[in-house]
Amino acid sequence: MRILITAGPTREPLDAVRMLTNRSSGQLGIAVASEAMNRGHDTTLLLGQGAIAPPQALDACCRRFDSTKDLEALLCEVFPAADLLIMAAAVADFIPEQAAAGTKQSRRDGPIQVTLHPAPDLVAALAKTKRPDQAIVGFALESAATLAERATAKLARKGLDAIVANPLDTMEATTITATLIWADGQIDAAPPALPKDEFAAWLLDRIAPSV
Ligand code: CTP
Repeated sequence: MRILITAGPTREPLDAVRMLTNRSSGQLGIAVASEAMNRGHDTTLLLGQGAIAPPQALDACCRRFDSTKDLEALLCEVFPAADLLIMAAAVADFIPEQAAAGTKQSRRDGPIQVTLHPAPDLVAALAKTKRPDQAIVGFALESAATLAERATAKLARKGLDAIVANPLDTMEATTITATLIWADGQIDAAPPALPKDEFAAWLLDRIAPSV
């Protein structure tokens, strides 16, 4: 199977030296890519520049992105050749209106105002173009109290085949307690507090069962 995985944070420039980003380490997506490759899948990993270093074994199949725009361009290029997209990247929700390339805002300029525009929803746009032979699995990171409800809404709104719902404390943790929710309403709960590499195997058993 040709599996495309995105992982890690996007970074949106504010000026030549500053950026807006998030805490995603990319660890879970890297674990899924390693497991997919070990199982013999034709694997591609798109990894954010702010993520942890991937293992050397992934070098040949890993391409790096910085901004949401970079990731969008890479996805346009490689998604058509994928059977399964696993969208674990923590993509920006907001993008600064104007990043003045080559300049650095000085403190002496006094208070500044930054206008943030909603980012394009990359996975929702891809889901609109996907062929019947392609599947897309998204991720939802939400507070535990509203996790199931909000993840289910996201799955439907974005037109995904399934979504991995995990609570906020997964970010930067080494284990994960997650639920896989399918478009038909079926729910698979993973064993609690799985190390991320064990979760990767659990997930691939369900979404990419055999080579
Ligand atoms: N995602 C995306 N493009 C974005 C934001 C998110 O493709 N601009 C993808 C993520 O990679 C993930 C899924 O959408 O697979 C859910 O991400 P999340 O940030 O939880 O959802 P949002 O679209 O940001 O929804 P909300 O603003 O309501 O939290």
